[in-house]
Amino acid sequence: MKKTRYKRLTDLDDDVDTNRRHDFNSMCSALAGFLLLFAFVACMIFLTSVESIPSTYLLSTLVSKQNKTKQKKRPAFRDESQFLNCSALIKGDKNTIELYVNNGRMKLDKERLFDLPMDCASIRERVYGDMPPFRPLNRPIAFVRTVYNLYELQEALLSISFHPDNVFCYVMDSKSSDKLKSDMRTMGKCFDNVLVLEKEYSLNSGGHGQDPAHFDCLEQILPRRWHHAVIIQNFDLIIKSPQQLSDLSETLNYTSIMGFDFGFKYRYNSKADWTPRGLKLFKNETGVPSQILTKKLRVRKSLNEVIMSKVFVKSIFEKLNLKTIVKLFDDNDYYGVDEMLVQTLYENYLGLDGQMESNCIKNHDDSLSRMTHWDWSGPNGFDKDCHSKWKRHGICILGVEYLNELSKSQKVMANKVMSSFDFGTIICTREMMKTNQTSTTPDAKWLSSFPQFREMQMKANGTYNRDKFDC
Ligand SMILES: *[C@@H]1O[C@H](CO)[C@@H](O)[C@H](O)[C@H]1NC(C)=O
Ligand SMILES: *[C@@H]1O[C@H](CO)[C@@H](O)[C@H](O)[C@H]1NC(C)=O
Ligand SMILES: *[C@@H]1O[C@H](CO)[C@@H](O)[C@H](O)[C@H]1NC(C)=O
Ligand SMILES: *[C@@H]1O[C@H](CO)[C@@H](O)[C@H](O)[C@H]1NC(C)=O
Ligand SMILES: *[C@@H]1O[C@H](CO)[C@@H](O)[C@H](O)[C@H]1NC(C)=O
Ligand SMILES: *[C@@H]1O[C@H](CO)[C@@H](O)[C@H](O)[C@H]1NC(C)=O
Repeated sequence: MKKTRYKRLTDLDDDVDTNRRHDFNSMCSALAGFLLLFAFVACMIFLTSVESIPSTYLLSTLVSKQNKTKQKKRPAFRDESQFLNCSALIKGDKNTIELYVNNGRMKLDKERLFDLPMDCASIRERVYGDMPPFRPLNRPIAFVRTVYNLYELQEALLSISFHPDNVFCYVMDSKSSDKLKSDMRTMGKCFDNVLVLEKEYSLNSGGHGQDPAHFDCLEQILPRRWHHAVIIQNFDLIIKSPQQLSDLSETLNYTSIMGFDFGFKYRYNSKADWTPRGLKLFKNETGVPSQILTKKLRVRKSLNEVIMSKVFVKSIFEKLNLKTIVKLFDDNDYYGVDEMLVQTLYENYLGLDGQMESNCIKNHDDSLSRMTHWDWSGPNGFDKDCHSKWKRHGICILGVEYLNELSKSQKVMANKVMSSFDFGTIICTREMMKTNQTSTTPDAKWLSSFPQFREMQMKANGTYNRDKFDC
C-alpha cells in the first residue's frame, strides 16, 4: 500500500460513474429530488432564521427546473429541513446522516438546475453575502485551480475560501461546456481578485495540461500580493478558513509543502537528458556551479496538490526557463504526469530561493496538503469500506459521512468532493468556515515533521549543517 499512496487521481473523467447510482436507486433518487427541492424552498419560506439552515448560497443555487407552482402545495416543509442539518452533520450525528442519506443525497444535476442570476450583485451576494465581515489577512493566499465542470460547484468552492485579500486564478479545460466557460468568465469580471485565464488548456485524466496550466496561472498572478499558492484541481475541497491559511503561511514562512517520493520510471522519459544544462533550465548559466548544471535531476513526485511559497515561485520564474522541462513531463506517451514538476524543482538543489537545500532523497508523506481516503480494492462505484459507500479511481468520494473527519483534520484540502454525488459536503464545509468549526491550524511543532520545515528552522536558529542534515 505504501507505494500506491501517491497513485495519481484521474479527476478529469466525466461524472458517468457516480451517475450510475441512479440505475439501481432511481426511485429513491427521484423521490429524494422532490423532497430536497421542497426542502430548499421550505427553508427559504419558513426557516430562514434557524441556525442549522445553511446559507442563502444554498437556497439560491439548488432550485431545480421543477415546476414552482406545484411546490407551494406541498405540506410539512419544516420536517425536510433536517436533511441538511449541517451542525449535526459536522458533529457526525449518526441519525442525521442516516436520514439525509436514506432520503437521497443532495446532488447537483446539471440537467435540472435553474439558471442562476449572473449579474455581479447576485454573484457577490451568493459568494459572501451571508459570511461574517472580513478582517484583513497578514498573508493572503493564492488559489490556483484547473476546472472543467459545473459552474455551480466552482462558485460554491470559491465561496468557501473567498476573502477580498486572497487571489483566485482559474484555468479552464478547453473541452468544458460553453456554459461553464461563459459563467466562469462572467464571474471573473465581478471580482478584482479572481482571474480566469484567457487561454484554455486541453486537460485529461492522464494529468496532461495541468502543469502548464498551473504555471501559466502562477506567472499571471506573480505581481499580486500573496504568500503561498495552493495548487488544486476541479474536485478539491479547501477545509481551512482564509484566516487559518494566513496563519499557516506565517508559520511556514518561505517553506513549501509537498511530499517526497521517487517518480515512477514508467511515468516519465527516463532516457531524456535530465541535467539542468541539457534541459536549458537556467536562463543564465553564468555563475551557476557546474556541479548543479551537469548533475542529473532525480525525478521526484507526490501529488498534484501542493502548497508553494511565493519566494520559491518567484525564484523559479526569475531564474528558470521551464519550457523544456514542462514539455518533458507533459509527454503524451505517459500517464500521471502532473505530480513531478514542482517536486523535482524543489527537492533537487538548484540554488532557488525557498527551496530545500539538503538533498533529501528519503521518502516522506505529505501530512498537510491533502486528505484522501484511499481504497484500491475493487472497481469504481459501490464500496463497502468507504464511509460514503462510493468510490472513484481508488478514492472514496467525500459524502457528509466525512464532515466530522474534515472538521478535525489538520490538512488544508481534501479530495474529492463531487457535486453529482453529494453537494451537502460542500455546503456544510462552507458552513464550517462560516461558523468557525474547522480544525486547529497546524503549529510549528506539528510542522517540524517536514524536513523542509526543519531545515528552515535550523537555518533560523543557526544549527543548520548541510552535510549533517538528517531528513
Ligand atoms: C408549471 O405548471 C403550470 C400548471 O400546471 C403550467 O401551466 C406551466 O407550463 C408549468 N411550467 C413549467 C416550467 O413546466
Ligand atoms: C439538528 O440536529 C440536532 C441534533 O440532532 C438537533 O438538536 C436540532 O434540532 C436539529 N436542527 C434542525 C433544524 O432540525
Ligand atoms: C522568514 O525567513 C526569513 C529568512 O530566513 C527570516 O528573515 C524571517 O525572519 C522569517 N520570518 C518569520 C516570521 O519567521
Ligand atoms: C548572467 O549572469 C551574470 C552573473 O550574474 C551577469 O554578469 C550577466 O550580465 C548575466 N547575463 C545576462 C544575459 O543576463
Ligand atoms: C475561531 O475559533 C478559534 C478557537 O477555536 C478562535 O481562536 C478564533 O478567534 C475564532 N475565530 C473567530 C473569527 O471567531
Ligand atoms: C533549532 O531548530 C531545530 C529544528 O526545529 C531544533 O531541532 C533544534 O532544537 C533548534 N536548536 C536550537 C538551539 O534552538
